[in-house]
Amino acid sequence: MPRKLLVNMRLATMREGTPYGLADGSAVGIEGDRIAYVGKEDEAPAGWANAEREDLGGRLVTPALIDCHTHLVFGGNRAREFEMRLEGASYEEIARAGGGIVSTMEATREASEDDLVEAALPRLDAMIAEGVGTVEIKSGYGLSVEHELKMLRVARRLGESQHMRVVTSYLAAHALPPEYKGRHDVYIDEVVLPGMDAAKAENLADAVDGFCEGIAFSPEQIARVFDHARELGLPVKLHAEQLSNLGGAKLAAGYGALSADHLEYLDEAGVKAMAESGTVATLLPGAFYTLRETQAPPVQALREAGVPIAVATDCNPGSSPLASPLLAMNMACTLFRLTPEEALAGVTRNAAKALGLSSDIGTIELGKAAELAVWNVSEPAELAYRIGFNPLHKRIMGAAA
Ligand code: NIG
Ligand code: FE
Repeated sequence: MPRKLLVNMRLATMREGTPYGLADGSAVGIEGDRIAYVGKEDEAPAGWANAEREDLGGRLVTPALIDCHTHLVFGGNRAREFEMRLEGASYEEIARAGGGIVSTMEATREASEDDLVEAALPRLDAMIAEGVGTVEIKSGYGLSVEHELKMLRVARRLGESQHMRVVTSYLAAHALPPEYKGRHDVYIDEVVLPGMDAAKAENLADAVDGFCEGIAFSPEQIARVFDHARELGLPVKLHAEQLSNLGGAKLAAGYGALSADHLEYLDEAGVKAMAESGTVATLLPGAFYTLRETQAPPVQALREAGVPIAVATDCNPGSSPLASPLLAMNMACTLFRLTPEEALAGVTRNAAKALGLSSDIGTIELGKAAELAVWNVSEPAELAYRIGFNPLHKRIMGAAA
C-alpha cells in the first residue's frame, strides 16, 4: 500500500473543540486512501521514518471541500431568464409561465448522456480547482423516469472520470413537467415513485430529495415521496422554506432527514424540529444572492438550537449559476453573517454530515479518507475573505496523489 508522510504545514483539522481544529500538530501520514497518522512530525511512530515525505512549505491544510448541494448536471443555460429578471420578472412568474426549471428540463431531455457529461465537466473542474473532493449531484431536470435515471448515470460517470466522490440525490419531485399539468399526485404515482424504485435497483440514488414550495410540491405530496423512500431505505433531504414557509423543514425532520436546504423562511418550530432530529441546515447563499432575496435564514436561531450548518453552491442554471464553493463561503459570511470558521465547517465537517458521510470525510482524523486541500494562505479565515480569488495550492486524494 502506498504510504506518504506530509510534513511542515499548518493543520486545520476542522475537528470540533478548538477553533478550526488548529491544535493537532503538523504532520499527516497517509496509507493508501486513509489517514494513518496525525500529529507532530518528530512524534510519528518509527514506521514512518522511511516513508516518502512531502514538505508542504508551511502551508495551511484543510479537509478537501465538500459541496453538499448541487444541480451540476443539466442541459442548456438560463441566461435569457437572467435578462428577464433584470427587466422585472420574478423567479416565480418565470416558473409559472413555463420557464425556469421546466425550460432546463427540455434542454436536459434533448441532451444525450455524453452531452451532459461534457457540459458538466467544466463546472466540476472549477470546483476541483478550489479543492473540492466530494460533490453531491441531484437529478431533477429529467422529470420522467428515463431522463431522471439518465441524469443520475451522468453523475456517477462524472465521479468515475474525475476520480472523486460523487453522492447522488434523486430529485424527480423538483417540478411538475407540463404533461402532468394540474396532476401532481398522478405525476408522483407514475413517475416519482417508479423512478425511485428503478434508481434504487440500479444503485443510482444515494438519497431522495424534493422541492416543497407553492410552485412545486405540497407537504402532503412530499410526504408520499418520503414514505416511499423510507420503504426503500433511502435517506431523505428537502428544498424547504426557500420562497415561503410551508413547514417543509419540520416535515423533513420528522423523517429524520439528512438536511433541509435554503431555509430563508424557516420558523421557530422548524428550527426546533431540526435540532431534535439532527437535521443539517444547508444554506445556499448563491440562490439568495441571485434571486435578490431579502429575508436571510434564521442563522442565530439555528446556532442557538445547535443545528449544524452547511454551506453549498446550489450550482444550477437558474437560481444559482455558481460553481465556486469559496465564493459561497464568502457570501455566507457577508450575506448571512456566518463566521469564517462556520463557513469552513459548512463546506467540510457539516457538509459531510449533510451527506451522511461524517465517519469518512469532513475532518482530518485517523481512519478518515485522506482527502486534503493545501492552500497558499496562512490564516484559515482567508479562505472565506477574498472574492474571486482562488488560493488553492493542490488537492491531495490518497497517498498516490
Ligand atoms: O435549489 N429550489 C429549487 N431548485 C433549485 C433551482 C433550480 C432551477 O431554478 O433550475 C434551487 O434553487
Ligand atoms: Fe437546489
